[in-house]
Amino acid sequence: MERTIANTHQYEAWNGYEGRHWARNPARYEAMVGGFNRPLFGAARIGPGDRVLDIGCGTGLTTRRAALKAPHGRALGVDLSAPMLERARTVAAEKGIANAAFEQGDAQVHPFPAGAFDVVISRGGTWYFADPAAAFANIGSALRPGGRLAIGTPDSTGDAADTGFPDLFRIMGEFLPEPPVLATEDAERAPATMSTPGDVEAVLYAAGFTSVAVERCSAEAMLGRTAEDAADFVFEWGPVRHWFRHTDPETELRAREAVRAALAPYEAAGGVRQPGTGLVVTAVRG
Ligand SMILES: C[S@@+](CC[C@H](N)C(=O)[O-])C[C@H]1O[C@@H](n2cnc3c(N)ncnc32)[C@H](O)[C@@H]1O
Repeated sequence: MERTIANTHQYEAWNGYEGRHWARNPARYEAMVGGFNRPLFGAARIGPGDRVLDIGCGTGLTTRRAALKAPHGRALGVDLSAPMLERARTVAAEKGIANAAFEQGDAQVHPFPAGAFDVVISRGGTWYFADPAAAFANIGSALRPGGRLAIGTPDSTGDAADTGFPDLFRIMGEFLPEPPVLATEDAERAPATMSTPGDVEAVLYAAGFTSVAVERCSAEAMLGRTAEDAADFVFEWGPVRHWFRHTDPETELRAREAVRAALAPYEAAGGVRQPGTGLVVTAVRG
C-alpha cells in the first residue's frame, strides 16, 4: 500500500538523524521521558481486553506496556520513523510480546480502520502535526464511539521554567548567532501546538472529542550520570545539532563546557535530573 505523508519535514527528521539517534539510544531517552509513564497509564485505564492505538510510538516502550496491560486485547504503535519502528519490532519480538504490532504512517492522514480501537494513547507523539485538528479528527475516527484518548504532551505554560534549573537552551544561545527556538523555520518542522491547556482543548473539541480534561503533572528527566555525560548527550540531540550546524568546533566546545559547568551543581548520586512538568490530557470520542 502506498504511504501518504502530510508532515514531510517531520518524516525527514524522524527518518534521518533524529530518528536514528532515538533508535540507537532508547534507554537514554527513556530516562528522560519515563517519568510520565505513571500519570499517562493511570489516565489511560487500559483494561485486559482493550484494543489500544499508540500514536507516535517511537521505539515502542509504551506500546509494549499497553500490550501487557491488555493480554486479551492488542496494541498497535504507529510512527513516522522507520529506524525507531525497527527497534520497536525487534524488542517486542525479543520480549515475546505477541499482541503488540507496529505500522509506519503519518497519524494525521493514516487510513486507520474506523472505530477499531478502545483507547488511544501517546507519550509525546502528538504535538508535531501541521494540522492538529485534522490529525485528531483522523485519530478519533479510529476510536469506537465512547472510546478514550489519553496523551502526554509538553507543558509550555511557563510554570515549568520556575524550577531554578539552568536554562540550557539560553546558555547555548550565547554561542549562536541567533537564539535557538524549538518553533523555528516553519510550523511543520517545529512543534508549536498542543502544549498549553487552551490549545489542547480547542484542538480536541474541534476534532469531535468530548469531556476534554487537562492535568499538569511533574516528572524528572534524567539527563546523564554526570554533568559531562549529560552535556555530551544534550549536544547529540537533533535540534541542538541543527542549531550548531554552522558553528566552528571551538565555539561549540566552549558552549558544551558552559552547559557542563551549569549542570555540575546538579550532579547527584542518581545522576543529573531536570525537574519539569507535562500535560496529561484525557478525552472521549463523541
Ligand atoms: C518525542 S518522540 C516520542 C516517542 C515515543 N512516544 C516515546 O515516548 O518514546 C515523538 C515521536 O512522534 C513521532 N511522530 C511525529 N510526527 C508524527 C506523525 N505525524 N505521525 C506519526 N508519528 C509521528 C516521531 O517519529 C517520534 O517517534
